[in-house]
Amino acid sequence: MHNVDQITANGIQALQAAADQQALELVKAQYLGKSGELNALLKQLGSMSPEERKTVGAHINECKNRFQEAYNAKRDALAAAKLEAQLAAEALDITLPGRHQSAGGLHPVTLTLQRVVELFHGMGFEVADGPEIEDDFHNFQALNIPQNHPARAMQDTFYVENGDVLRTHTSPIQIRYMLDKQHPPIRIIAPGRVYRVDSDATHSPMFHQAEGLWVEEGVTFADLKAVFTDFIRRFFERDDLQVRFRPSFFPFTEPSAEIDIMGDNGKWLEVGGCGMVHPNVLNNVNIDPEKYTGFAFGIGLDRFAMLRYGVNDLRLFFDNDLNVLKQFR
Ligand code: PHE
Repeated sequence: MHNVDQITANGIQALQAAADQQALELVKAQYLGKSGELNALLKQLGSMSPEERKTVGAHINECKNRFQEAYNAKRDALAAAKLEAQLAAEALDITLPGRHQSAGGLHPVTLTLQRVVELFHGMGFEVADGPEIEDDFHNFQALNIPQNHPARAMQDTFYVENGDVLRTHTSPIQIRYMLDKQHPPIRIIAPGRVYRVDSDATHSPMFHQAEGLWVEEGVTFADLKAVFTDFIRRFFERDDLQVRFRPSFFPFTEPSAEIDIMGDNGKWLEVGGCGMVHPNVLNNVNIDPEKYTGFAFGIGLDRFAMLRYGVNDLRLFFDNDLNVLKQFR
């Protein structure tokens, strides 16, 4: 009775083609309903011999079962697909990090600047500052660097209008402060941005210095060494840090020295310049060099920040990459 098999095969195919639950129920009714195609076959049993009836009846029931199983499988598959689609539509990605307001932090150079100022403030130095656009007088002439002096070549900078410059060092703050205050004792620490035509891994066209100045009766180079050594050992929190004052030249100090510290690698590393304030400079600001003496120093704050935080490329400080800057908060 291949008619039964054919009908069953058609029915199962129709089940499998059903696109949704509703279509599936229609197919089921079409085959298994009271007057469905498989049940209709049962009606033909009446006209058969008892023997035939038995085998054909059993075969029809077996086909109905197969159809029912196919129906069940398809129903489960449709339900699973529906759930799947619903879950996908309502998806909530709990792996995304939450949105939060992160607190800002100070730049490593600012942190360094604050630390330097704090340490000198504790030693009785007042904080001073000055403009970043300087005139020739304050940036050069009053500091004993006349027009056409070869020392100017070391401090090539950016020129603004009427001969004004972006200051090449914080030393003009010495001049401004002494002209303003006039009467020693003068003890200042003056941090700020400075500019030079320089750019590589350890030089940036804009960088930061802090200027120190102490003018009073009887100030000597020994005071300079003591104050600076004390400061730098406290800055790096190393009581045994070796400091060297290496003879050098600056037009505005006499004698002059470069200040080196001993690195962990056993090599000397320059961190600033210093010296006794040149008598010409004191004269330029109307302070009597016969009565008063003083020392001055200038340190590179970016260099200090690099050493303190173990950063080997200065440009990292100025690229504004948050992934870098965040690490110093
Ligand atoms: N102004 C000098 C520089 O920028 C540093 C310095 C400051 C040297 C004070 C001596 C005294 O190179």
